[in-house]
Amino acid sequence: MIPASIEDIARHEGQEVTLRGWLYNASSKGKIHFLQLRDGTGIIQCVVFQGEVRAETFDLAGRLTQESSIEVTGRVRADKRAPIGYELGVTGLRLVSMAEPYPISPKEHGVDFLMDHRHLWLRSRRQHAILRIRAEVVAAIRGYLDGHGFVLIDAPILTPAACEGTSTLFETAYFGDRAYLTQSGQLYMEAGAMAHGRVYCFGPTFRAEKSKTRRHLTEFWMVEPEVAFMDLEEDIGLAEDFVLSIVERILSRRRRDLEILERDVSALEAVRKPFPRMSYDDAISALRADGLAIEWGSDIGGDEETALSSKHSSPLIVHRFPAAIKAFYMKRDPERSDLALGMDILAPEGYGEIVGGGQREDDLAALESSIALHGLPREVFGWYLDLRRYGTVPHSGFGLGLERTVAWICGLKHIRETIPFPRLMNRLTP
Ligand code: 4AD
Ligand code: MG
Repeated sequence: MIPASIEDIARHEGQEVTLRGWLYNASSKGKIHFLQLRDGTGIIQCVVFQGEVRAETFDLAGRLTQESSIEVTGRVRADKRAPIGYELGVTGLRLVSMAEPYPISPKEHGVDFLMDHRHLWLRSRRQHAILRIRAEVVAAIRGYLDGHGFVLIDAPILTPAACEGTSTLFETAYFGDRAYLTQSGQLYMEAGAMAHGRVYCFGPTFRAEKSKTRRHLTEFWMVEPEVAFMDLEEDIGLAEDFVLSIVERILSRRRRDLEILERDVSALEAVRKPFPRMSYDDAISALRADGLAIEWGSDIGGDEETALSSKHSSPLIVHRFPAAIKAFYMKRDPERSDLALGMDILAPEGYGEIVGGGQREDDLAALESSIALHGLPREVFGWYLDLRRYGTVPHSGFGLGLERTVAWICGLKHIRETIPFPRLMNRLTP
């Protein structure tokens, strides 16, 4: 018997194969049982004819409960009506384990119920497609950076200081002292860039977000490239090429999953370089012209992001923000000292900010005064200031949020389905 996987079933047309998996769904019509088998790589219909199998086998096929684990042997045949183009004519069936009544039935369930059963919900067709796409986005990220001369440098998760402001820090006891879960690996990547030139980190980051929005997790994954001798313009160009490469890889490798999600792929196919660009000044003017009551100097929030990005089919780059609303490490614009050389990328279709980054302050004195201005404890930044003492150079980088990117690519309203086990203000289980 040939062991096979549903994903590769086309290679076995006409052959007798054995598939191992779980019963996704079943129905019966007279002398036929239709078993929908999933094996982790896909779902295939297995047809059990009364006259073609032993009596016990036919009887077992009729008794199987949803999510029972089974081994099915049968002949692969092409079938135009089947979603994957093939079905299995069953010759043998072996029960591995009969499942107890399964809590998630094909009927509709509320989100809280599904989230409480996330460990089981992962098996359903849509969730399966989303996590396959997530895995491909991760592969695209690593593939791009590894292929463009970046060295992977891992940043620590336990840190002594805040990178992105003190209001969203998770604190933990640390041998009589305090530690914080990292908000961003950036500061460590700056050290890495001075050692290797082009570096990145990619791992979980944490923010004690006290708001319940569809764009915020308390634990999310961020990839953070950092490059020595790079200015804001080049940083924008890198981010643009990077984002486009991710979209292109998903379109070429995960179309089937996008179809399962009923994603409008034409919106992804419309993404083109160069992305539209807009200064913060112009963004505020545009928003005000559209009747939104936003003042110069305030942060561009979720609704404003949606209003700005919905006018474009490619992601929108917004740059040069008021320094007062941005992190301490951002370099001031030499032409406008009230502005920071930062940039955000807003995904189209209202998905909001997927990238934040910019050029870093490389001058020792300017950085020292910025740390003081932000009321941050200088002691814990001693090592970071050293980077400006010993061969400081202009450098830039950015962070791309994995889950926001997956939400956009998959066309999901809420970020909670883009990560296997989401952590939200009101959810820590399963
Ligand atoms: O804009 P942020 O805060 O930038 C930084 O942390 C920089 N230190 C990155 C860098 O320059 N190396 O976060 C970067 C991205 C956001 O654009 C967003 O995609 C994502 O991280 N992000 C979140 N995703 C989910 N839930 C949250 N609470 C997030 N906060 C930020
Ligand atoms: Mg940001």
